[in-house]
Amino acid sequence: MVAACPASSGGGAEGSTSTFLDYQQLIIKVETSPCKRTVKLIYKPIKLNHMIYMADTANLDELRELYSFFPLEGVTTNPTILSHSGHKLSESIEGIQELVGTGMVHVQMISAESDDMVREAKKYRSYFDFGDNFYAKIPVTANGYRAMRILKDAGINVTATAIFTQQQALVAMKAGADFVAPYVSRLDNISSHGIEVVGDIVQNIANYGLKGKVLAASFKTVDQIYRVSMAGSHSATISAELLHQLIKHPMTDIGVKQFEIDAEGLYDIAF
Ligand code: E4P
Repeated sequence: MVAACPASSGGGAEGSTSTFLDYQQLIIKVETSPCKRTVKLIYKPIKLNHMIYMADTANLDELRELYSFFPLEGVTTNPTILSHSGHKLSESIEGIQELVGTGMVHVQMISAESDDMVREAKKYRSYFDFGDNFYAKIPVTANGYRAMRILKDAGINVTATAIFTQQQALVAMKAGADFVAPYVSRLDNISSHGIEVVGDIVQNIANYGLKGKVLAASFKTVDQIYRVSMAGSHSATISAELLHQLIKHPMTDIGVKQFEIDAEGLYDIAF
């Protein structure tokens, strides 16, 4: 004999449990008992998708200021960027390491041979006592692809750089790269299409279920950044100047000014 459900329970259906992902990628568990249907949020296994911003500079003053307000998740450098920092390599990297804390630090390897790239990356890790937040930037040359595999086997994170085509990125991810960095402005400057290359790589990652992420790089305009984020780029590394520009709008400044004017003589609470 089936026990009667209390009037408030709704009652009726056979007992069952089903689990599914909702549109925000939260795991939802639905328990249906003969008397009640309960919907539970079990846990959030996947970080909600959002674009990671990184600073493409080694200037410690710029970084200090940016880190005081911008939600950055890391810093990227290359020898050109480091040469503008006004410091020797060790001082720059040490300063960056201090500022980013547990954030990511992506450093370009400059060796030509794969074994030397690997040695260089290992040296950075030991010299600066980096943990998992260190990423060895490796160019997509034959030696680079070889080095990527060795680095991944050694447990070192890899960011594939100097990418100009979707195929270079795809091969880099197959070689184990965690991030792939297409150079948007440099593509645009040779009458190619940086945003399209970014979009194609994003599409490949989704189509093939790859675990790599796009780190769009080499920007000269805020519009390029807007477009790569709309193309679904997982991350972007951006100069200090453009990071400042992309949050600016004259109408925001006018709006804030007007609030100040309208508040005059009105507020009788001391904040
Ligand atoms: C970052 O990883 C790249 O090295 C950088 O964004 C290249 O920028 P550039 O094309 O302005 O030199």
